[in-house]
Amino acid sequence: MKLVFLGAPGAGKGTQAKKLVEKYSIPQISTGDLLRAAVAAGTALGKEAKSYMDKGELVPDRVVLGMVEERLKQDDCKKGYILDGFPRNTAQAEALDKMLESLNMQLDAAVSVDVPFDDLMKRLTGRRTCKACGQMFNIYFNAPKKEGVCDKCGGELFQRDDDKEETIRKRLDVYNAQTAPLFDYYKKKGILKSVDGTGSIDEIFANICAALGLK
Ligand code: AP5
Ligand code: MG
Repeated sequence: MKLVFLGAPGAGKGTQAKKLVEKYSIPQISTGDLLRAAVAAGTALGKEAKSYMDKGELVPDRVVLGMVEERLKQDDCKKGYILDGFPRNTAQAEALDKMLESLNMQLDAAVSVDVPFDDLMKRLTGRRTCKACGQMFNIYFNAPKKEGVCDKCGGELFQRDDDKEETIRKRLDVYNAQTAPLFDYYKKKGILKSVDGTGSIDEIFANICAALGLK
């Protein structure tokens, strides 16, 4: 099962990808997570990426494409993967097609998780993530039992640097201008699956599984 997850910032791509990982044991490849790991490690790539991420802009394609290609070549991707937050523009989608051709791989579906614009801001400003295990919470919709502490592993929760209202607005603008055209890109290929991204996390997961024909 080789999937691309499309959807606006805050649509729940990461939340739903993690559920698929748990159920089907295929890796989640989140370019955002890979970039944040590079930022945390203080690498040259991380330093360059941070200047774009803090402004809510896309990191240059040359940075992201190399990272994805390296990841797709790893053994655990042979049986499938979920590309979360990649591709992000038409140039990346075209580069991905070439990459997959050279790796002799084919995408099964591009899943779009559709959430009304007004819901996204609250999802993003309320998001809290565990430093240790990456589990996501939301102070408005699925709050941790104890403030600032992960229910799953007891780790410390943090708020992402780019989850400030002003940066979120920029990310949403960038999404509309550069990423939204990918719906048509994958529709033309006949592999777009649009899923209602409102409702509970479990309901949306059931919608995704149904759209993919999974039990
Ligand atoms: P990235 O990390 O990909 O961020 P994003 O696309 O903005 O998406 P998010 O991770 O914010 O949202 P999500 O859809 O994963 O939602 P989540 O599940 O967390 O990218 C960050 C930056 O990195 C970019 O701005 C760019 O600079 C750079 N970058 C990344 N990829 C790149 C690329 N390919 N090219 C260039 N640059 C790139 O959910 C959000 C919140 O909502 C959580 O709190 C969650 O608990 C809650 N929630 C989830 N589902 C529900 C529900 N059903 N009801 C209520 N709350 C819910
Ligand atoms: Mg995410």
